[in-house]
Amino acid sequence: MKQFDELAEKPQRVILFGAGGQLGQQVSASRPENVELHAYGHAEADICDQQQLQNLFEELQPSCIINTAAYTQVDAAEQHPEMAFAVNADAPGLIAATCPDTCRIIHISTDFVFDGLKQQAYSPEDEGRPVNVYGLSKLQGEENILLRRPDSLILRTAWLYSGEGKNFLTTMLRLMSEKESLHVVDDQRGTPTSVNSLAHVIWRFVAKHDLQGIYHWTDQGEASWFEFACEIQRQALALDLLEKKIPVHPVSTDEYPTPAKRPANSVLDKEETCKIIQYKGNAWQDELKETLQHLLPY
Ligand SMILES: NC(=O)c1ccc[n+]([C@@H]2O[C@H](COP(=O)([O-])OP(=O)(O)OC[C@H]3O[C@@H](n4cnc5c(N)ncnc54)[C@H](OP(=O)(O)O)[C@@H]3O)[C@@H](O)[C@H]2O)c1
Repeated sequence: MKQFDELAEKPQRVILFGAGGQLGQQVSASRPENVELHAYGHAEADICDQQQLQNLFEELQPSCIINTAAYTQVDAAEQHPEMAFAVNADAPGLIAATCPDTCRIIHISTDFVFDGLKQQAYSPEDEGRPVNVYGLSKLQGEENILLRRPDSLILRTAWLYSGEGKNFLTTMLRLMSEKESLHVVDDQRGTPTSVNSLAHVIWRFVAKHDLQGIYHWTDQGEASWFEFACEIQRQALALDLLEKKIPVHPVSTDEYPTPAKRPANSVLDKEETCKIIQYKGNAWQDELKETLQHLLPY
């Protein structure tokens, strides 16, 4: 466990929502020693249930809430907007309306609030203009929180992966072990981001009591999904996680249609975050290596 003791000034009682998700699991696993963490998965706490939220907040009187819970099925959200909006837009508003005035809210959001048309990295001040239902619901969630609790902290991230569960990394490893060749989109750019580094950054934000507003965090550098896939294969072969090398071909978004449109540029400007939490992070390739080193062969 990484040491955060020097970062946190006083003990904190923190509630974590979404503890069963890929990010939530890592936030739980990396809890600093001076944090009393109450971590709830979906089955234990439904963030859409205001009565449940109220009971929890009254009982625990938390000093901070970390919300990693979300409806994250980007394509399915196009078919089920009501589910995406209930969890991603309305529920964050409920948390903000229900939690004690003295309790901070740290809410996780996404690069999908942007349309991806900007040529440079997106700064927190750039206007949100989502191109799909998921992005719209997440942007509304940010607004619902800040409307009721302007002192909240919204942390946007992108292209999140972990060594477990269903995400781009685990999907690629599985497909690379099963298929003879792969086609991967090469005209969407972003920054692969490990749940390990994001959890570390979240705890740094927890320790900085006075920070509020919108911040961005990803690992360092950028890539297309194709470049990410090639690097996964290169590193996995070097670590003997895969038995054979298969051809990976770049394709355009037009050649790989999905129900939800995706932003072409998802790169986030995190300069302000690095300065304020005094942490620069690592190149995404190094974070990928750190994750792969803990995996078993596919
Ligand atoms: N994954 C990415 O690439 C990515 C990129 C940018 C931002 N983000 C943001 O990062 C955060 C964490 O994402 P993640 O990748 O860890 O997602 P995840 O693995 O899908 O985890 C989300 C968790 O939220 C839970 N949940 C859903 N509805 C809930 C409800 N009503 N009450 C309580 N819990 C509920 C889910 O439980 P069930 O599975 O049981 O429904 C799941 O365990 C989210 O805010 C997401 O929008 C993710």
